Amino acid sequence: AVDISKLRDASGLITLDPGYKNSGSCKSEITFLDGELGILRYRGYSIEDLAEKSNFLEVSYLVIFGELPTAEQLHQFEEDIRKYTLVNEEMKNIIDGFPKTAHPMGVLSALTSALTAFNPKSVNVENSKEMYEAVCKTMGKFLVIATWTYRKSMGFPLNYYDNTKGYVENFMHLMFELPTGPYKADPVVINALDKLFILHADHEQNCSTSTVRMVGSSHAGLFASISAGVSALWGPLHGGANQAVLEMLEEIASTGGDADKYLAKAKDKNDPFRLMGFGHRVYKNFDPRAKIIKKAADEVLSTLGVHDPILAIAKKLEESALEDEYFKSRNLYPNVDFYSGIIYRALGIPTDMFTVMFAIGRLPGWIAQWKEMRENKEPIGRPRQIYIGHPLREFKR
Ligand code: ACO
Repeated sequence: AVDISKLRDASGLITLDPGYKNSGSCKSEITFLDGELGILRYRGYSIEDLAEKSNFLEVSYLVIFGELPTAEQLHQFEEDIRKYTLVNEEMKNIIDGFPKTAHPMGVLSALTSALTAFNPKSVNVENSKEMYEAVCKTMGKFLVIATWTYRKSMGFPLNYYDNTKGYVENFMHLMFELPTGPYKADPVVINALDKLFILHADHEQNCSTSTVRMVGSSHAGLFASISAGVSALWGPLHGGANQAVLEMLEEIASTGGDADKYLAKAKDKNDPFRLMGFGHRVYKNFDPRAKIIKKAADEVLSTLGVHDPILAIAKKLEESALEDEYFKSRNLYPNVDFYSGIIYRALGIPTDMFTVMFAIGRLPGWIAQWKEMRENKEPIGRPRQIYIGHPLREFKR
């Protein structure tokens, strides 16, 4: 028999899977995803049905608690979130410490982490009442501080949640209402936002969600874990892609609109440029969310009467890429981020807030995954490595 203790540092016993392309990190009941067939379901409900028939708070409840809420439960959920939307006034001192030019994702990550200082009591995950309150608190406070990152960058006074408005409508109020007069969001806009947030609500073990689970696996609190998720989401290969897509489309537009030139750059292996909003680690046929978003972008722009040349460039780029052997052979299709930025732009959301929008949408997924991980009593996440550095060296100066 092999004496395992003698082999404990032998790399032969370790599975090496950089980027975890084929490693499952957990069992989960939250999201089902089939990358070959382009299927996405939350708790068994298809993303197409949810985007068409539901709203963001209902989907949040479903993702976090596992079942669709009754009308009464949904009403109560909204009420309970409302109770927690006041953010400690001292948090404003923290915001004031940032330069106006700070990226909203950096500010959001810091503020989310700072919430821990003002809400230090750790949640007993086995107590369903405490867990429910932690969920409502996180949903309430995160929305408010997310919008404060924008208000700060504009030098505007920070707004408070309006108890007469719904959750998604409050996002627009918190962002755009000025002391000079009330702000009334167009129902088309609220509807589009609801849909966008639903499409982002969860996506199984993506980079930011895995980060939330990993950080939470050390029994770090919910705010601290979510703050880490925000940082992970920020990168351009993940949630930051929605900002990068729009910057890329703007650059194409400002340099004469030659989409094919950028396609050629993306194919050039000596050029680090990638076509932003294309490709996905799991979807190798199409991203079902991109299909829904593309249709929504058309609807929103035509209903709001916005004629955006950027949309034409995006469509041209997509058509050319879908015909191109490089993209076809690598199964590179538009992902959720390719069209979302065009909608955000039409809604008046500034480009550097796009990834914050993604974070607001992904929040229920992060909470659900943290909750599931803790309820399942998962062990601390601690991958191994294969050491390829120096063998033992004699210490000599
Ligand atoms: N443009 C050009 N080539 C690409 C692109 C792209 N957008 N994406 C992948 N490729 C190429 C790679 O260069 C590689 O080519 P090779 O086989 O000749 O070396 C091949 O396709 C496979 O790419 P990988 O990087 O191995 O694929 P991976 O699964 O690791 O990456 C990722 C997926 C990160 C999404 C990648 O496609 C990418 O960088 N896309 C652009 C950024 C983006 O849109 N991110 C958002 C993802 S969705 C989300 O987070 C919500």
